[in-house]
Amino acid sequence: MSSFAFVIHPVDPKRDVARKYPHLARILPARLVHFLARFWPPVCLSHVAGVRSEDTGKEIEGWLVACPFTARQALELPTRTVYNKIIAAGRLAQRLGAQILGLGAFTSVVGDAGMTVARHLDIPVTTGHSLTVAMALEALEEGARCKGIRLESSTVAVIGATGSIGRACAELLAPAVDRLILVGRSESRLAQVRAQVEGARTRQVRTSMQVEEVCEADLVLSATSAADSVIQPEYLKHGAVVCDIALPPDVSPRVKQERSDVLIVAGGLVDVPGEVDFGFDFGLSSGKAYACMAETMVLALDGRYESYSLGKHIRVEQVHEIARLARKHGFRLSAIC
Ligand SMILES: NC(=O)c1ccc[n+]([C@@H]2O[C@H](COP(=O)([O-])OP(=O)(O)OC[C@H]3O[C@@H](n4cnc5c(N)ncnc54)[C@H](OP(=O)(O)O)[C@@H]3O)[C@@H](O)[C@H]2O)c1
Repeated sequence: MSSFAFVIHPVDPKRDVARKYPHLARILPARLVHFLARFWPPVCLSHVAGVRSEDTGKEIEGWLVACPFTARQALELPTRTVYNKIIAAGRLAQRLGAQILGLGAFTSVVGDAGMTVARHLDIPVTTGHSLTVAMALEALEEGARCKGIRLESSTVAVIGATGSIGRACAELLAPAVDRLILVGRSESRLAQVRAQVEGARTRQVRTSMQVEEVCEADLVLSATSAADSVIQPEYLKHGAVVCDIALPPDVSPRVKQERSDVLIVAGGLVDVPGEVDFGFDFGLSSGKAYACMAETMVLALDGRYESYSLGKHIRVEQVHEIARLARKHGFRLSAIC
C-alpha cells in the first residue's frame, strides 16, 4: 500500500504535549516541558488509515511523527541542531515504511525549508507549501464571499509577504485585487516582492514594515513565522476578514474576544476524502487536516513520490497543479462560514 509520513511538533508546549503524554504534561510546568522538549527524541504518534481517493478509490496509509521542538526552539536553537532532529524524525518515518515525508509547521520553515533535510533522507520530502497557498487563497475568497466583499474592489494586506507562503500568496492575489499592501520586516526584501507582483495589473501595491497599517485592508492574509501573535484587535478595519495561515497563529486571541465584526478564517484547513482515522488528536475535528498535510497525502495518492514543494520559492504553476490534483482526489476546503 502507498504510504506517507508527516512530521508535526508542539505549537503550544503544555497543551500539545498533553495530547501524547497527559500525565507528564499535568505534573510538569510549561517551562520544564519546553526545556525537556529539546532532548526528547522523535516519536511515532500514530498510524493513519482510511484516506481514499474519490477519483481512483486508491487507499493509502501513513504515520504522524513528532519532532519535539517548540516553535520558539526552532527559531532560537542553532539551525544545525534543529535540522538534526527533523532528519532523525525523517529517518524514523523511513523505518516505518513511508514513501514520502511531509514537514509540518516550523519543521518546514526553519533554514532552507526542507532542502537540507531532503538531502539526508532516502525518501522525497515536501513542505506542503504549494497546497497551503492554494487553500489559503480559497479560504480568503470564501471569507470575502461570506462578508459580501468583492475581491476585485478590495484592499488586501499580506503579512509576512517576504516569506515562502506570503510571497506566493501575494503573487497570486495581485492580479485579482484593487490594492495590495505587502507587510514585512525588511525594506529591501519587500521591494523585491513588490517588483515581482507589480507587473500583475494590480492598481496599487504598497509596502509597509508596520503591521498596524493593515487597518486599511478589507482582507488580510497572514503568514509570518513569528513565535507570538502579531495581529491585535485595534489594527483591523471594521468588518475585515483575516485568513491566518501561521502556526502558531498570528491573530491574537483578543481579536476573537473583542472584535465580533471581524471574520477569522483558519487558513488552509481541508476535508480529507475517505473515512480517515489519524489515530491522534492534533487539534482539528475529525476528518480535517492542514493543507500542508493534505499535500503529502495527495502526492502519495497520485503516486508522485517527488520532493514537490522544497525551498523558499514556491512557483505559481506548482500551486495550480497541486490544487488540481487535490480536487481530483476529493480534498475540499473545510466550511468556514
Ligand atoms: N496552515 C498550514 O497548513 C501551514 C503550512 C505550512 C506552514 N504554515 C505556517 O505558515 C507560516 C509561514 O511559513 P513560511 O514557510 O512562509 O515562513 P517563512 O518563509 O520563514 O516566512 C515568514 C515571514 O514572516 C515574517 N516574520 C517572521 N517573524 C516575524 C515577526 N516577528 N513579525 C512580523 N513578521 C515576521 C518573515 O519576515 P523576514 O523575511 O523579515 O524574515 C517572513 O516574511 C508559519 O507560521 C508556518 O508554521 C502553515
